[in-house]
Amino acid sequence: MTEKTPKLRAALEAVPTYKPGKPAAPGGPVAYKLSSNENPYPPLPGVLESAVAAASTLNRYPDMACAGLMAELAERFGVPLSHLATGTGSVGVAQQLVQSTAGPGDEVIYAWRSFEAYPIITRIAGATPVEVPLTEDAAHDLEAMLAAITERTRLIFVCNPNNPTGTVVGRAELESFLDRVPGDVLIVLDEAYIEFIRDENVPNGIDLYRDRSNVCVLRTFSKAYGLAGLRIGFAIAHEPVAAALRKTAVPFGVSQVAQDAAVASLRSEEALRERVDALVAERARVVEALAGQGWTLPVSQANFVWLPLGDRALDFAAACDRAGVVVRPFQGDGVRVTIGETEANDIFLRVAEEFRKEL
Ligand SMILES: Cc1ncc(COP(=O)(O)O)c(C=O)c1O
Repeated sequence: MTEKTPKLRAALEAVPTYKPGKPAAPGGPVAYKLSSNENPYPPLPGVLESAVAAASTLNRYPDMACAGLMAELAERFGVPLSHLATGTGSVGVAQQLVQSTAGPGDEVIYAWRSFEAYPIITRIAGATPVEVPLTEDAAHDLEAMLAAITERTRLIFVCNPNNPTGTVVGRAELESFLDRVPGDVLIVLDEAYIEFIRDENVPNGIDLYRDRSNVCVLRTFSKAYGLAGLRIGFAIAHEPVAAALRKTAVPFGVSQVAQDAAVASLRSEEALRERVDALVAERARVVEALAGQGWTLPVSQANFVWLPLGDRALDFAAACDRAGVVVRPFQGDGVRVTIGETEANDIFLRVAEEFRKEL
């Protein structure tokens, strides 16, 4: 070995490490994973069959244009094919959006705390993150985000509902924000959890994108659709943003298994609705139980709840670990707990009840 090592970009030194939700510990008591906002249900009816059929052609590259899926999405959302782009999970598409708009010296604005990939993909591009603190209610502070815009701003993420707090931005507030962001700044509405929203005051980003050329909507098959393991998400954006997404895509990045499973999932609408409704009902049950225990939480419209535990976050996560549920702590800030199987939620509620007495 020579003493020299390859020169890496200095920007990588500032890249935070993505911490995936811990898996459930093998050999533990009962082990449930409530740490990654996954769907506890198995794939929707018809999905496994499509995936298995696609797997029989694994010796071939997938359809790079994702034509079947794109046609399905274009029809469903009433958008032109040229406004659609798929990627390896919506986080892959989010990374392409940053790469397409921002480089060294440019700024990317997002709320904080929000989805932990935002600082990572911003830094990887060599751009500068501008983190705007959430309000006291753990919601986006859109006025402060507007005030943070400079000549160097290239992209703004609005995560609606916000991961990890579950809070939402309402229609009037969001529209007023979009109308005041300069037209040459891209606004990405990250709607990874939109299917779980029951607050009628929250807009569908696709309605807002239609007559705004600087708005892009990000969606995923990982959450409500339950395909987290297949890595497939998509964006809806006007040209030239959609074209930039096609340019920055990893060639053949979305497998045929993922494409065909996504199409089958879209065609299983009724079962999807039932499962999402069941998770939303379970969310209501968990939230009510926590309120009864004396917890005050931000209102969540996603498939998780946020316990603002501050410096007790790691202790709470450790107590959950011991009881057989794995949750997602953010040190010094809070704990995010996914709504999962009823038994898992019950274990979490028992831990929360005990822990509450100590606070
Ligand atoms: C807000 C938000 N956006 C995007 C993603 C990425 O999801 P995926 O890459 O699985 O589509 C997540 C996943 O946790 C998320 O919470």
